Amino acid sequence: MLQECGFMCGIFGYIGSHDAVQIIRDGLSRLEYRGYDSAGIEVAHSIRKCVGPVCNLDTTGLAGFAGVGHTRWATTGAVTVDNAHPHSDCSGEISVVHNGIIENWREVRSCLPDHNFKSDTDSEVIAHLLERCSISDIPRTLASHLVGSFAVIIHYGGVLIGIRHESPLVVGHTSHGTILSSDVYPLIGVADKVAYLENDDAVFAFEDGFKIYDSHGNPVHRPLCDLPSSQVGALNSDHYMLQEISEQGDTIQRAISQSPGTIERISDMVATAHGIMFVACGSSYHACLTGAYMFSKIAGKHVNVIVGSEFEHYRHFLEPGTLVVAVSQSGETADVLNAVRIAKSANSNVVCITNVVESSLYRASDELLIMNSGPEICVLSTKTYTSQVVLLALLAAACVGDTTSIKRDVQSLCVDVFNMTSQSMRNYVMQLAMILSDVEHLYTIGSGPLYPTAMEAALKIKEVSYIHAEAFSAGELKHGPIALIEPGTPVIAFGSVPNAVDEIKSRGGYIIGVAAKHNPAFDFWIKVPDSGYFDPIVQIIPMQLLAYDLALIRDCDPDRPRNLAKCVTVR
Ligand code: F6R
Repeated sequence: MLQECGFMCGIFGYIGSHDAVQIIRDGLSRLEYRGYDSAGIEVAHSIRKCVGPVCNLDTTGLAGFAGVGHTRWATTGAVTVDNAHPHSDCSGEISVVHNGIIENWREVRSCLPDHNFKSDTDSEVIAHLLERCSISDIPRTLASHLVGSFAVIIHYGGVLIGIRHESPLVVGHTSHGTILSSDVYPLIGVADKVAYLENDDAVFAFEDGFKIYDSHGNPVHRPLCDLPSSQVGALNSDHYMLQEISEQGDTIQRAISQSPGTIERISDMVATAHGIMFVACGSSYHACLTGAYMFSKIAGKHVNVIVGSEFEHYRHFLEPGTLVVAVSQSGETADVLNAVRIAKSANSNVVCITNVVESSLYRASDELLIMNSGPEICVLSTKTYTSQVVLLALLAAACVGDTTSIKRDVQSLCVDVFNMTSQSMRNYVMQLAMILSDVEHLYTIGSGPLYPTAMEAALKIKEVSYIHAEAFSAGELKHGPIALIEPGTPVIAFGSVPNAVDEIKSRGGYIIGVAAKHNPAFDFWIKVPDSGYFDPIVQIIPMQLLAYDLALIRDCDPDRPRNLAKCVTVR
């Protein structure tokens, strides 16, 4: 079963012999990329909450060896202290943190008329529902009363109970206790091993260990796996965004290193498919659009690219021979998961490209390509976007039996990618950012595979600097959007689009060219190497830097833009 809907929060719990407050605070700080509207912590049944990031939490005087914590991306209920988690029952003995959505919370709440609710959230019903419930009955009680998706951690009577229902939850093993967490990232360097819960598993964690039960209440063994390296995800730059932009020379190499057997199996699926659909959202969607041009050019294959939230309108094209390639960094994007559910119900084949091993998408797919980018902490996608493009190029090349030359091309691409983040490029892009920092609107244009690059550049700029940026296909400009061009209007043109550039210039537009060749109409030229079908990768990198610089100049947080969360698990 796939996740139907939900929202993106971070939940964390600890029980053991060490200081729970510090361990939970540290864990929450590393989960903050999942949401940062508010935070809260409970230790020894004392609760502290705040609006804003975890650093706003005052934990003075809080002490104990077990507790839970939460970092919130708000959906049901405004961003207030009362709506922050943990929530508790009337007795204050049960503390609950929740990631997901309880669809029937109003009905459940109306069945608990004597309870004193303190928030407007769906999550609070969980705590009240469990009042007077025996600890062993908790999983069954939630399963029989709640509709929706939830990962919950409950602190009750000296035990932590974690339940995974359509939202992820992992269990960290340490020498001093047990950690429950929304994802594996906060466990790196902290836990020795991790166990990934299956859907509807419940874990009961005590001071000296934990036990996992399946949905029927039977004890089950889930393997303890190694964690990723402790170096992965450490911050060495001013911001994760800059660090992750700079990592791309390495991450594209890691992406291309796939098992030949997997590539062969997937290219066989492509070869025999009755129709190929790519499905994704946001930046991953832009990577798919780029991939479709590559499939056309390299493999001579037609692909329909569908944005995740629109997929159900195309369901009648699905048949058992259809191949759906679902692309998602997080593997938890609800619109993509819903598309996969629709595809599976039509018995279509699903291949996924994801960065997160054991994610819901990973579990739902017939074949997998793992991006190997390492955790992407900045809310904006940068390194994972370029890895997706590389992987789609690899698949296209595999379809014509030529992965050798694409792998060789990626070797030289690494040098180009590295040069795109050189100090001289950074200085030059910063000059441009100073010029653009006060504009209200800017436009991006491109043609062919560089049209999605223009879309991705506009998305990066708007989501982190809040400047209105909009992309057009260069050839479409004259069909309407050119009406927006006034003297001084900035337009970023990718590649060689001479007609469009002339049309803008003759209306007084300010043209920033991102191209290998100069055009006298450019007012500002970002010189990039000619990288053939990898132009979309090389050309997006200065735009990622531009978005970063614009955020800095405009005093915006590059890693945590307003209103966003790293993974959108709401439909
Ligand atoms: C943009 C961004 C989002 C994601 C989109 C899909 O910088 O991060 O647009 O690309 O929400 O996320 P995934 O790839 O996790 O499915």
